[in-house]
Amino acid sequence: MVSEAANAGIDRVLWTEAEIATRVADVASELAADIRRLAEPAVVVGVATGAFLFLADLVRRVDVPLAVDLVRVESYGDGTESSGRPRVTADLKVDVAGKHVVVVEDIVDTGNTVSCLIAHLQKKGALSISVCTFLDKPARRTVDFQLVGGGKFYRGFECPDSFVVGYGMDYAELYRNLPYVGVLKPEMYSKKTDN
Ligand code: PRP
Repeated sequence: MVSEAANAGIDRVLWTEAEIATRVADVASELAADIRRLAEPAVVVGVATGAFLFLADLVRRVDVPLAVDLVRVESYGDGTESSGRPRVTADLKVDVAGKHVVVVEDIVDTGNTVSCLIAHLQKKGALSISVCTFLDKPARRTVDFQLVGGGKFYRGFECPDSFVVGYGMDYAELYRNLPYVGVLKPEMYSKKTDN
């Protein structure tokens, strides 16, 4: 149960908590089946902060041995738009050289973040690089990133071109804790805030 205060600013729900759980379980099964076939170790790398809920829900349902790590990638923007120049600001702890890496994202939008991470992981000697994103917003793509070493693209849902929040995704660092995904009311971000 989400309180009225937590829901404030949400125009409509796109995916409920139950719909998310069902879809995450399906993606996890597909990922587990693929990892099971690999001869070398697998590392799942979540991109902070947005991926934290998807990462936690996903890996709990992937019942094969794997390492889990986090990276932080930041781009400068006004809160609704990313600048398109991301950089890794907190690096991995796990050595990914000679391993199969699955980058876990909450959303792939322009593709800049994933593209930056793929280059970063390639430099570190990852054997293959896959991307597993909860939401995919192809309408906004500007970067045609290439997966590496037979890596695969997994996605939970295709997202319409709206400002979505919840299930890890924020506006000005709020709404990440909503258990569903909703569209933010335009009036919430049309006025500039201090954040
Ligand atoms: C969001 C999201 C992705 C990225 C996708 O991160 O989590 O990492 O934007 O956008 P792109 O495909 O256009 O690069 P954000 O920079 O908002 O940080 P956050 O995860 O801390 O919310």
